[in-house]
Amino acid sequence: MKSMFPKAIVLPLTFFCATLFAEPIEPQVINETQRDHFVSALLKKMTLDEKIGQLRLISVGPETPKSTIKEMIEKGQVGAIFNTVTRPDIRVMQDQVMQLSRLKIPLFFAYDVVHGQRTIFPIPLGLAASWDTKAVATVGRISALEAAQDGLNMTWAPMVDVSHEPRWGRSSEGFGEDTYLTSIMGKTMVEAMQGNSPADRNSVMTSVKHFALYGAVEGGREYNSVDMSPQQMFQHYLPPYQTALQAGSGGVMVSLNAINGVPATANHWLLTDLLRHQWHFKGITVSDHGAIKELINHGVASDPADAVRIAIKAGIDMSMSDQYYSQYLPGLVKSGAVTVAEVDNATRHVLNVKYDMGLFRDAYRHLGPVGSDPQDTNAEERLHRAQARDVAAKSLVLLKNWHNVLPLKKQGTIALIGPLADSQRDIMGSWSAAGVAKQSVTLLQGMREAVANRATLLYARGSNITDNAKVQAFLNLYEPAVVVDSRSAKQLRDEAVATAKKADVVVMAVGESQGMAHEASSRSDIRLPKAQRDLITAVKATGKPLILVLMNGRALDITQQDGQAEGILETWFSGTEGGHAISDVLFGDVNPSGKLPVTFPRSVGQLPLYYNHLPTGRPYDFTHPNKYTSHYFDINNSPLYPFGFGLSYTTFSVSPITLASISSEQGVKAASVTVTNSGKRAGSTIVQLYLHDPVASISRPVKELKAFQKIQLQPGESKTVTFALSKNDLGFWNQQMKWVVEPGEFDVMIGTDSVHTETKSFTYP
Ligand code: NOJ
Repeated sequence: MKSMFPKAIVLPLTFFCATLFAEPIEPQVINETQRDHFVSALLKKMTLDEKIGQLRLISVGPETPKSTIKEMIEKGQVGAIFNTVTRPDIRVMQDQVMQLSRLKIPLFFAYDVVHGQRTIFPIPLGLAASWDTKAVATVGRISALEAAQDGLNMTWAPMVDVSHEPRWGRSSEGFGEDTYLTSIMGKTMVEAMQGNSPADRNSVMTSVKHFALYGAVEGGREYNSVDMSPQQMFQHYLPPYQTALQAGSGGVMVSLNAINGVPATANHWLLTDLLRHQWHFKGITVSDHGAIKELINHGVASDPADAVRIAIKAGIDMSMSDQYYSQYLPGLVKSGAVTVAEVDNATRHVLNVKYDMGLFRDAYRHLGPVGSDPQDTNAEERLHRAQARDVAAKSLVLLKNWHNVLPLKKQGTIALIGPLADSQRDIMGSWSAAGVAKQSVTLLQGMREAVANRATLLYARGSNITDNAKVQAFLNLYEPAVVVDSRSAKQLRDEAVATAKKADVVVMAVGESQGMAHEASSRSDIRLPKAQRDLITAVKATGKPLILVLMNGRALDITQQDGQAEGILETWFSGTEGGHAISDVLFGDVNPSGKLPVTFPRSVGQLPLYYNHLPTGRPYDFTHPNKYTSHYFDINNSPLYPFGFGLSYTTFSVSPITLASISSEQGVKAASVTVTNSGKRAGSTIVQLYLHDPVASISRPVKELKAFQKIQLQPGESKTVTFALSKNDLGFWNQQMKWVVEPGEFDVMIGTDSVHTETKSFTYP
């Protein structure tokens, strides 16, 4: 039987900093036969209510205060807890289980550790922009270590929803628009977070989400539905989930959307036929927050009991944050609508993952003895600042550098302007777990330290994030998340313009607040808010060289600003050490190497816009414009910045492609290019390989990313990069939904972005 976890060490562990592994890693090889015996014996001892209790996942909060949880624990009515993040808090509940409950089945504790727990790293979209699997593995490992040391056993991550929709606020949480890049990043995260086993002292179990297709919600509107052809689904949207599960993820979180009319939570085909029978997933499925209840709103369940019946039969093991399983399963079993075997099956999955987390051997595995709790959970020594700074710098994408306006010199007078220049909260981005805003470094702090007394740094806020009162109210719904300056927009702008006039060069930190690129944060307009657009226009009028530092969680429409600024650096939300990392790049201490994991459109009206689209019967050719071809008459078809794009302070040239045959069974061709650093600085770049099948039984994308490599080159240095293409790389799901590799000609394209590539063709076989 296939184990849920990789049995061998899958990461180059030597890569990580030694302190992370100060404690020896204890290999945890799961013997599934022993586990099955153990779980079967335990199931026999459990009452129906205790089994149903194991299926309940509770969020600690106003709805379920700790006193209620204690009573539930005592009665065996809860299987796991989330949203509690300190060892003392977690210990209390595990103590209650061990002291008060009949069977002493340990709870597991989960949290949204998506890009860091205490140390916050760049948002996943930024991590994807690094195209650097070692950097991403570092993030996964440190996040897991900090989470495990806070007593957690599971994280609701990674999020591998491919999305072509920048309107969707959750674009920030995923790895972008591409299937391959998302698959690689998701796999890296799973392997890094779980390590040898989630039972290790410094590992946690992952829960891949949101299964499935959540990134394709119609119109990018949050919680909306998805309608998609099977070919598109299997070719572009499902592989990242499958890859992350094959990497051994113990959990899957089920998405809130419907797929071709059937909500994922009610989708037997998705959760049982595909996930269990075809993909052989052995771990646990968890519904998303309140999703079982929502089956009534979806119009597929008539009442709560019906919703529960449908969800458990579809394959939902654990219900998140609703009481429906506990309220209705007993009656459903009594009436025969749900069988004991179905309850046992779900309970078995929960007990299996607890076994794999090592909780039956030691319920305090991630807690340790009482006296070992950190005195100060947020202690500075618990942070991994050096790694956060390094990864953040690698995630930055230089979009524009007119006449080498960057890097800046640490001399003269520099003005820093913008509502995001000194925001400790926003720079952490969405889902910043237990990160503490006060511990994050803003761009103002970073630049101050960088220039020290060598240059004069002036600062003006310049505008609010937005002056739209409705949006301000939305962003501040639960807490004062965005500061609204009491000065008028004109006063703020005038101060900024006066500041800019005193400077030799102006850096502007603009973009979105944390809450604008989050769950439930869909936008119909993906430009910078008007207050910031007006500010940029006013500052531009001073004639000073203008560098925009973008902080945001999605591809934006920056067409207007692209025409105004000499330099543009995309920094996403770069985390605890963001301010240092951005300064490192602005001043040239680090040469930028990030590449866009999403296409930047010219306008929201072009959406969806993604690089691996299908050809049309009437392609538009701008050199011979023809009315009856596929285009908008008011805007170019092309993006503002394409997928895979990003500049460096040096330049790279790529030689023509050389192809060689590979003789192994699955191997097809070895494609090589020689990349030369043709500039004057050392630098790294991402060499990207795309494939195109020009004639097939179904129309195939104009190009698809199949491989990439990050390389570092000294000035004048050349390296040959070779990619091995396998038969699998040529395959696709045909009209009959069969995976086929059709003989014929293929185009291979290699370059340092998706547009500027060398091309060569070959015939297969
Ligand atoms: C709802 C979100 O959709 C999901 O991603 C998250 O993990 C859960 N809430 C728990 O916070």
